[in-house]
Amino acid sequence: MKESFIIAIDGASSTGKSTLAKGLARELGFVYVDSGAMYRGITLYAQQQQWLTETHFDKEKLVSNLDDVQLSFAHNSLLLNGKDVSQEIRSMQVANAVSNVAAISEVRTFLVAQQRILGTQESIVMDGRDIGTVVFPNANIKFFLTANATIRAQRRFEELKAVEPNITFEAIFENITRRDHLDSTRADSPLIQAKDAIVLDATKFNVDEMLEYALTLIKDY
Ligand code: DC
Repeated sequence: MKESFIIAIDGASSTGKSTLAKGLARELGFVYVDSGAMYRGITLYAQQQQWLTETHFDKEKLVSNLDDVQLSFAHNSLLLNGKDVSQEIRSMQVANAVSNVAAISEVRTFLVAQQRILGTQESIVMDGRDIGTVVFPNANIKFFLTANATIRAQRRFEELKAVEPNITFEAIFENITRRDHLDSTRADSPLIQAKDAIVLDATKFNVDEMLEYALTLIKDY
């Protein structure tokens, strides 16, 4: 059996990880896996069950019922227990709560096991926060994306305003900087750059240039 080739892409929110990852998957014929969508899917599930509301989070309930959460991908759509929730997981309601769910070690263990299985089945591009450090420390190539918070918030604002017309730039900026802080200071698998990751500054490249450059680097492997 041909060995799978794994490309790990990490970085803070809205640095353009998924755009790069999708572009690489398309050009190389690999499968794209959005690990952040899996954390968002579990968050949505906890909200649907009313275990996670704006004022209350019953973590024990979520942890003891994780086996009831079935996540899968179909053509880049996330299915939660068989239902396509790709739109719902992008809401601000989920975005505001997901870092608290992603900080729970049992949730991470549950998802990391599934992410590793995906990497044994075929060649993949996976993006997230801990892909090059925890999920696939032996990935064939690792990228770490950076960009300043204002540019990232602007980018997310452009994407979201069609879906959530009441959204403001300030609310997104606040969400992004708060999530960065929570994601990079949590005890389990914080967002950090793997020692052997190649850093790409998304402020310096446009989408096409970034893809071109990453492809050039991959061809050397
Ligand atoms: O990439 P994203 O914004 O959709 O990710 C949503 C949240 O999930 C993010 O705030 C941090 C968390 N996450 C994580 O902890 N580990 C990953 N591998 C991917 C995402």
